Amino acid sequence: MSKHAELHYEGKVYKLPVIEGTEHETALDISKLRDETGLITLDIGYKNTGATQSAITFLDGEEGILRYRGYGIEDLAEHADFLEVAHLLIYGELPNKATLDKFERDISRRTLVHEDIRKIFDGFPANAHPMGVLSSLVCSLTAFYPGHRTVEEMDLTIVRLLAKLPTLAAWSYRNGMGHPLNYPNNNLNYCANFLHMMFAYPTEDYEVNPVVVDALDKLLILHADHEQNCSTSTVRIVGSSQVGLFSAVAAGINALWGPLHGGANQEVIEMLERIKADGGNVKKYVDMAKDKNSGFRLMGFGHRVYKNFDPRAKIIKKACDNVLAALKIDDPALNIARQLEEYALKDEYFISRKLYPNVDFYSGIIYRALGIPTNMFTVMFALGRLPGWIAQWREMVLAKEPIGRPRQVFVGKPHRPFVPLASRA
Ligand code: ACO
Repeated sequence: MSKHAELHYEGKVYKLPVIEGTEHETALDISKLRDETGLITLDIGYKNTGATQSAITFLDGEEGILRYRGYGIEDLAEHADFLEVAHLLIYGELPNKATLDKFERDISRRTLVHEDIRKIFDGFPANAHPMGVLSSLVCSLTAFYPGHRTVEEMDLTIVRLLAKLPTLAAWSYRNGMGHPLNYPNNNLNYCANFLHMMFAYPTEDYEVNPVVVDALDKLLILHADHEQNCSTSTVRIVGSSQVGLFSAVAAGINALWGPLHGGANQEVIEMLERIKADGGNVKKYVDMAKDKNSGFRLMGFGHRVYKNFDPRAKIIKKACDNVLAALKIDDPALNIARQLEEYALKDEYFISRKLYPNVDFYSGIIYRALGIPTNMFTVMFALGRLPGWIAQWREMVLAKEPIGRPRQVFVGKPHRPFVPLASRA
């Protein structure tokens, strides 16, 4: 007989099927629990709740393993490029040469956005955060490009979004600077084109540095998917109401923005700068992070699912050394980061809670070396995460998953009689 667990409740025994994934992780299937027992489960923050069965990303937080469609993140970061990985995540397989060429061509043909979208930028104040601008603009795409009805139309929407997000992201930055917006150059590859839109000016020559392109490509791969995290769950749950991809991804961008999620990369650099300005005393900040009353956390440390080294952080740390050496940059923030990591990893508080550096700890230092301004760090994360959001949305749509609708345990006032305004105290 297949595995099951038993629930003993009010004199009855209920059998709950146990589901096993391909990597032998197990789950209790409670989909009939309420119908059969009247009970729901309560799991605030979804710490133990599986929201779907997914074939995209496998993550083992205890062992520090991350795989996209079966391929180790280390191999992909070393040998693949970002659009190959995007294809892998979205369609399930690494593309062959002909498929990849077509995928790249389809994307590069669509990098322009409707000219009227430029006018939307005029409405934003100069100091608007680029994440807020980006999510608004992605949502605005719903007004310019039709939704999908067929699988072919779905693929066109996917290609459009992959093509246009770098344009919108770079324009969010340039507009905030009050600088002219750069049109895409489709002779350049995905990352080089983004850098061109960010940094080229009509007043001087600009050549994209291959070291910078490679580093950016690797960073985007490392961020490309991370199974059911906060922003991805947002994309799936918003998408489950059958709004289109643009609306679902705009919601995902907003979820990513928060400091406990993708916004942490900006917070890390700000924290390192603060420590540096304060004399570089890492002990003081580790002590502060341990003090629950301080309201301070070590940004870039800890993770909901990794209770071991985040494998992405290991790769990024190495890449960070390589990029800074190749670009001949000496960033004192890197020294502070190293000292902070070394100090925290020996501290009982961090050891006992299994708090390790996460993907955001070193990524900001690389972004800064690449010339990316601090308020664009989370936008870079969004560019990287886009294929994952798309893949997860597509999987959910094709599986015809029902609308996401959690339940609750009500703890408010029970029924009480209405009090007319004149009688209220
Ligand atoms: N600094 C100090 N203490 C921490 C930190 C930290 N960065 N992270 C967790 N803790 C402590 C908590 O205070 C808690 O201690 P307690 O058991 O004594 O109460 C314990 O470790 C467990 O932490 P939780 O907040 O319960 O863990 P949760 O899984 O809910 O949070 C999170 C994970 C949000 C990532 C958390 O570790 C954090 O806030 N880190 C800093 C922000 C950050 O780097 N976010 C990026 C995450 S990666 C990503 O989203 C891409």
